[in-house]
Amino acid sequence: MRMVDIIEKKRDGHSLTKAEIDFMIEGYTKGTIPDYQMSAFAMAVFFRDMTQEERVYLTEAMVNSGDTIDLSAIEGIKVDKHSTGGVGDTTTLVLAPLVAAVGVPVAKMSGRGLGHTGGTIDKLEAVPGFHVEITNEDFIRNVNENKVSVIGQTGNLTPADKKLYGLRDVTATVNSIPLIASSIMSKKIAAGADAIVLDVKTGNGAFMKDLDDAKELAKAMVDIGNGVGRQTMAVISDMSQPLGRAVGNALEVKEAIDTLQGKGPDDLQELCLVLGSHMVTLAGKANDAEQARHMLLEVMENGKALEVFKTFLASQGGDETVVDEPERLPKAANIFELKAKKSGYVAEIIADQIGTAAMMLGAGRVTKESVIDLAVGLVLNKKVGDYVEAGESLVTVHSNQESVDEVVAKIYNAYTIVSNSVENPDLVYGEVK
Ligand code: URA
Ligand code: CA
Repeated sequence: MRMVDIIEKKRDGHSLTKAEIDFMIEGYTKGTIPDYQMSAFAMAVFFRDMTQEERVYLTEAMVNSGDTIDLSAIEGIKVDKHSTGGVGDTTTLVLAPLVAAVGVPVAKMSGRGLGHTGGTIDKLEAVPGFHVEITNEDFIRNVNENKVSVIGQTGNLTPADKKLYGLRDVTATVNSIPLIASSIMSKKIAAGADAIVLDVKTGNGAFMKDLDDAKELAKAMVDIGNGVGRQTMAVISDMSQPLGRAVGNALEVKEAIDTLQGKGPDDLQELCLVLGSHMVTLAGKANDAEQARHMLLEVMENGKALEVFKTFLASQGGDETVVDEPERLPKAANIFELKAKKSGYVAEIIADQIGTAAMMLGAGRVTKESVIDLAVGLVLNKKVGDYVEAGESLVTVHSNQESVDEVVAKIYNAYTIVSNSVENPDLVYGEVK
């Protein structure tokens, strides 16, 4: 087999066989197929697309390019959740203990990465003492005993995807549905989930800004998941404004604690209930999403979800007293209010700009070497649809910096206030099964 023939075949719009896709991914991982040939292939896919079968073969080949995680020592159906990313998305912090509290095993491997705020691990590290450098044995024992544990990235997962994603980034081939869908799904499958709930975001703060594109990506990922034998479904949710109110690591831990008690922001609580219901149903702990929702509301109300969160923190060295005393979390030196300059209704909060403002405060990483300030970030006191009086607080800023003029300008810029009343945006646009 020759790579040049595979490129030509795809260039001319034909479908590739499993043997051809395996040959290509193996060769690319080993280095016998060079970047320039893989670039040409990615561009051919960009224009010619891939069939459902080709997408499944590509995903499986990338899964097989490296290590895979074996979660078979954990009892029950392991359900993972994946979000395509947004601003202030605190759902994982809430969902992990919440679904664990109704008996769904959550065995999560998480990374750090770049972004407006840290990843799930960074956020959890805002709890003094909490760490994810635990042994596989402790990880599995924690999940069997308390139903939830989070471990840092171990092993060499999907090296083919890592290489290909980097190449796509510099060859204008990131934006291809078959390549995005196989990239994301290969990582979830290699991490060992039996079933997967996808939260595909749409809106200006999302990877897929347009609703139709988000639906197409969701369908592509769901079909791949089901095609490789992992039960998969997707929820399409709004990211036209940040989710919840807190954007920042310790601030989001506090927001998660509130939400686990049913006292969190409405949109964050609702999305957690929607995603959580599907996780509980796929795990076989409820007959349908409605029954699952009742179970989740019950553990929020009776304190069980919060108890599981405390045990989870303590099992990984964390100070669980922060749950009852959130003032023990890292705190910024300067906390001040940004007041509305005029009265009216909030018509828009550009999520991207809020995310950038949080990153400028130090809540996220600009490069892999950046050090995150866990204490800093923003709390949005007004969301889209809310009425605000001139002089009332729009946003609370938590900062450790001397000069915040640029950050303040960015936040004011993100908000649009109008005189006519504005409807609350939809939170969930649909489901794909
Ligand atoms: N995220 C991924 O992991 N892969 C893509 O291709 C795009 C977004
Ligand atoms: Ca949030």
